[in-house]
Amino acid sequence: MAEFSLTRTTHPTSPAVRQAALADPGFGRHYVDHMVVIDYVEGDGWQDPRILPMSDWSLHPAAAVLHYGQEIFEGLKAYRRDDDSIWLFRPDRNAARFVNSARRLGMAELPEDVFVEAVERIVALERDWVPAGENEQSLYIRPFMIASEALLGVREAKSYRFSVICTPVGPYYSEPVKLWITPNYTRAAIGGTGEAKCGGNYAASLVATEEAYANGCGQVLWTDGAEHKWVEECGTMNVMFVTADGELLTPSLGSILPGVTRDSILKLADAHGLKAVERPISVDEVLDGVESGQITEVFACGTAAVVTPIVGFNSPQRGVAVVGDGQPGPKTEEIRRHLVDIQFGRAEDTFGWTRKVC
Ligand code: COI
Repeated sequence: MAEFSLTRTTHPTSPAVRQAALADPGFGRHYVDHMVVIDYVEGDGWQDPRILPMSDWSLHPAAAVLHYGQEIFEGLKAYRRDDDSIWLFRPDRNAARFVNSARRLGMAELPEDVFVEAVERIVALERDWVPAGENEQSLYIRPFMIASEALLGVREAKSYRFSVICTPVGPYYSEPVKLWITPNYTRAAIGGTGEAKCGGNYAASLVATEEAYANGCGQVLWTDGAEHKWVEECGTMNVMFVTADGELLTPSLGSILPGVTRDSILKLADAHGLKAVERPISVDEVLDGVESGQITEVFACGTAAVVTPIVGFNSPQRGVAVVGDGQPGPKTEEIRRHLVDIQFGRAEDTFGWTRKVC
């Protein structure tokens, strides 16, 4: 593949406007001035890697993504440290997962080194958009790929577009969350697309999320498709349980998203006196455990959500269940702090997870 080319915007965001955006970034409210674009055509491969001014795209109305949802994405963050350097957290894991998602959706596979290079180039170019790091703010990076071929027949497309856009962000959830255990909907089943990070999984989650809101909860706790018996994950995050016996329990992989944050926290558990255990966990075990005190803390984790305390559940069968005293627990807080401190360079990176961009 050729070298990346750069076309600079003729209308860069002024420092004053950028500072105002960084002061209260929200999530996906403001976008940096440039984006990465790389196209793929079957037979010719990946071509013309370029950084362009952020702008709308023109797409044929028959582009396969618009009809059959051939789309995948990733989420990772760039962190500004106290010495003003900018770092990524485990971008290689996102690159590898992107390949797996592409395989599942029958899409072209972007080489992992190209994925990481694209992310590094856009972050280096847009370093002024990386927030100062107060309140755990960071630059959220969204690599994604769509099927761009104009195609109404149902088959794998022959042309794709990969792109990377970035947005400064604060915490995705600013408050602890309660989870709605939906009896009506399923996110994924074995053999489905649950392990892939594809837009369709999120589209299918929206109606259940509305149901969660209507039942006083901020998110859904998904259960398995066959029996609605086994815990899977939350909308936008993986889920973890701290037990009175010192275990950090989380559902096994198979039909859930293999989260980079999930994997990192399982590796950090030991440092917090917890034994990481991945196994099937039933809804009854969770609700009984919360009621009896066997489960002392619950939290959700993900790139956007970081570590979000879960303080209660609601379900048609069992009603409301409060976790502990309804406040974020100490292990949840400790683990969150440890992870964030590694990301911002304030704690030792014993696993070699962080990578300097500039
Ligand atoms: C992420 O954590 O990066 C995600 O993809 C969640 C997003 C859908 C908000």
